[in-house]
Amino acid sequence: MAKTNNDEQFKNVISHAKEYGFVFQSSEIYDGLSAVYDYGQLGAELKNNIKTYWWKSMVQMHENIVGIDSAIFMHPKVWKASGHVDGFSDPMIDNKDSKKRYRADQLLEDKIARYEKDGKIDKAAKLQADMDEALKAENLPQLKVLIEEHEIACPVSGTKNWTDVRQFNLMFSTQFGAMAEGAEEVYLRPETAQGIFVNFLNVQKSGRMKIPFGIAQIGKAFRNEVIARQFIMRMREFEQMEMQFFVRPGEEMKWYAYWKEARLKWHTALGTDPAKYKYHDHAKLAHYANAAVDIEFEFPFGFKEVEGIHSRTNFDLTQHQEFSGKKMQYFDNDLNEDGKPYGNYIPYVIETSIGLDRMFLLTMISAFEEQDLSEGEKTDSRIVLHLHPCLAPVKAAILPLTKKDGLPEKAQAIMDDLMLDYNVVYEEKDSIGKRYRRQDAIGTPFCITVDHQTLEDDTVTIRHRDSMEQQRIDIKDLNGLIESRVSWRNLLKKS
Ligand code: GAP
Repeated sequence: MAKTNNDEQFKNVISHAKEYGFVFQSSEIYDGLSAVYDYGQLGAELKNNIKTYWWKSMVQMHENIVGIDSAIFMHPKVWKASGHVDGFSDPMIDNKDSKKRYRADQLLEDKIARYEKDGKIDKAAKLQADMDEALKAENLPQLKVLIEEHEIACPVSGTKNWTDVRQFNLMFSTQFGAMAEGAEEVYLRPETAQGIFVNFLNVQKSGRMKIPFGIAQIGKAFRNEVIARQFIMRMREFEQMEMQFFVRPGEEMKWYAYWKEARLKWHTALGTDPAKYKYHDHAKLAHYANAAVDIEFEFPFGFKEVEGIHSRTNFDLTQHQEFSGKKMQYFDNDLNEDGKPYGNYIPYVIETSIGLDRMFLLTMISAFEEQDLSEGEKTDSRIVLHLHPCLAPVKAAILPLTKKDGLPEKAQAIMDDLMLDYNVVYEEKDSIGKRYRRQDAIGTPFCITVDHQTLEDDTVTIRHRDSMEQQRIDIKDLNGLIESRVSWRNLLKKS
């Protein structure tokens, strides 16, 4: 089988995701809605399993972390306090001929990449430094000067006829209240974290939490991204899994180091090649952060951020205290080195923030393999998803060898029992070989075949997805064998 390049491999994963019901373009019959996607019957299962893995590992496995589910709508003042109303924006520029809108920094980044590709390393470094300086100083006219100086043309019209650079806020807003008159403008949250910050004292008091402790949540976030591309990598509606860990001031670096390591371990416990991951420390920090690192994964289009670990100081809680007029302080009666209670303070926060959809894409890409099974003259191949058994949407397929002689009834009885514990499917259509291939393509770890011998001695053939090996086992041992592979225990012990 011909080897595929990265672009082709990515395209193949995208079409595979659609063909087998993992991901569909939203509102596809109306030609889709840009950067919005729906998860199909298998995608919803895989996504749920990723969420379960995160939730179990963060909440269930840490006695001092609890989970919440806060609302998407929040008081508008929340976003003023957090800095999102004034600062959550991208510098954008329009091409007057094509009417296409671009992120100014992205146009410059693309140019830098082109210079590097052409071996113009000095030019690339100079442009990078000039761009960084302009971004840091929020000097929008200078970004336009750089675009013009470096003769960047619109990829669509090919012209250099640009508007000025303007800031474009990424938050979606809508009207709250039934009457147009007097309705208030509210935002769709651009991150789940603020729902945690504003509930910090509610959870601390009602849960009698002692510092250090964490609050976790999984939920939708919305950003009106200027450039939305690369399938579910950059979406306008997406899901985040975030955890805020509240610590004593001065102890944040210790916890930052802890979470940096712990989060990478969570990823690699799934069996993904560790060489595909790297840390990317932020050289430029947001005004509220004193350390930040991305966990990057090598996607077919290069190393990109999947998760961020941020030391956010006491910025958010301090802002909410100021804007709400309510105290956001914690009383710490543990004794310090001088034997005195630490007393009242606003805690510092380490945040771990992972995009669920990016994790989904990463999982599909690293699991996807087009395998050449040709032997001698006989050509053969299969697509197999080597998903971790805990994440696999379907744990086992029950397949009667034929549609007659009582085999379907026997297979259905096995199905009725296994479905009490696992998501399993029953399939009797097509040849057994075709049915195996279909299950390989959706990542089902086990195929259980019911044949005539089953009727005689209550044994079945169980076929393993990755090795394609088959073994004969008693029906009564099926549950134990499946459990030994799909149990969360094995994964959680490693994470
Ligand atoms: N509370 C911190 C925060 O939101 P972020 O780096 O803006 O930090 C965290 O986002 C994670 O959310 C990213 O690492 C990424 O995985 C995911 N994410 C951000 N924007 C996204 C988008 N437009 N589409 C899909 N995932 C996105």
